[in-house]
Amino acid sequence: MGVLWKLEPATAAKHRLYQRYLDAWWPILLQTSQKTGYARPRVTLLDAFAGPGRYEGREPGSPVFILDRLLNHDAVDRMNLSPRRVHLVFIEKDRARHAHLVAELEARFGPVKDLPVRVEVRRGEAGRDSLAVLDELGAWGNPILGIFDSWGSVNVPLGVMSRIAHNRSSEVITTFGPNWFSRREELNADTLDTVFGGRGFWTPADAELRSDERWRVWLHTYRDALRRAGFGFQLQFQLVPRTGQPLYLVFGTGSPAGLKAMKEAMWKVDDRDGESFRDPRTRGAEPDGQLDFFQLAEHSDPDLLELVTQRLVLGTATVEEIGDWLLRETTRWMPKHALKAVRELRGDGAVTLQSPGKLTNKSRISLPAPVRS
Ligand SMILES: C[S@@+](CC[C@H](N)C(=O)[O-])C[C@H]1O[C@@H](n2cnc3c(N)ncnc32)[C@H](O)[C@@H]1O
Repeated sequence: MGVLWKLEPATAAKHRLYQRYLDAWWPILLQTSQKTGYARPRVTLLDAFAGPGRYEGREPGSPVFILDRLLNHDAVDRMNLSPRRVHLVFIEKDRARHAHLVAELEARFGPVKDLPVRVEVRRGEAGRDSLAVLDELGAWGNPILGIFDSWGSVNVPLGVMSRIAHNRSSEVITTFGPNWFSRREELNADTLDTVFGGRGFWTPADAELRSDERWRVWLHTYRDALRRAGFGFQLQFQLVPRTGQPLYLVFGTGSPAGLKAMKEAMWKVDDRDGESFRDPRTRGAEPDGQLDFFQLAEHSDPDLLELVTQRLVLGTATVEEIGDWLLRETTRWMPKHALKAVRELRGDGAVTLQSPGKLTNKSRISLPAPVRS
């Protein structure tokens, strides 16, 4: 592959997701709180596999659109941008791509030293150099968003994720390229040990031989790794573009608000260009063939109904607890989706109301007792 390459549909879809997410992330972190008057002293975004800044068809690469959307954000006047306060760090390993990125940023934005934020473009190795550059910039103690967007070889040690996880209000997004999960023979076992935190953590996933199951088990395995690293909340999904190969993302955050913001970003891009987010927990249940198009609009997504049923297999729960489980454990669904899904499952006789009175968030729900013959 040359310095630039063609923008694949899955990458374009991923960019739309990042853009939606960052549009929400910057003001949350940079605006002064109206209640307390508190403003965070520093915020750092690390794009550790930055790329050359542009695609063959001239579409912007991640460093360019990240900077562009920050500088042109609707709320930029309330963000108090300054080079001391806002740091954007781009790491690229390849010499020619690094040089291209430096030139591209300069061509688009002028000399980076004159920008209202600090922009560092480093030639280096994401796994080896991320912590050192965060040290150097004094990023710790304030929010960091780490984007680890490699193609095939996710080689960032879990120790890096763990440092970020234990830092205040910090998050990571890790992507896995197409075919990552089916190309195990190209992956070095010692590297995987550092990425997953030890051999015992990843060899069970590697033992899965069914091709359509591999992505699910590997994503779960990486999600578990981020949990062990210290992220209280994790989200994993397959990003399926309208055409072309899918990509895989795992997101780690310390707060339910971060999780909600990422899900809201997914809802905003969902379907717009035909992409979808596939939850590894579901098998892509087809809608009931009996329903016509207009009825379908009235009904919950079959994936949601399947997931609520999965939660109830674990035991009785209130609607509120089901909502919390949907937020923590599923790719797209939010607490607000629980009540409608339970109502619908109840109407179909697929769940039972355990508490008296009408169905509310406090109602206890279970699966119907099995009929014994
Ligand atoms: C998937 S591309 C990045 C695309 C870019 N983030 C975007 O969205 O436009 C991965 C990039 O990481 C670079 N790379 C590969 N290994 C790396 C490493 N260990 N550290 C930093 N960059 C690396 C590659 O040269 C390539 O430019």
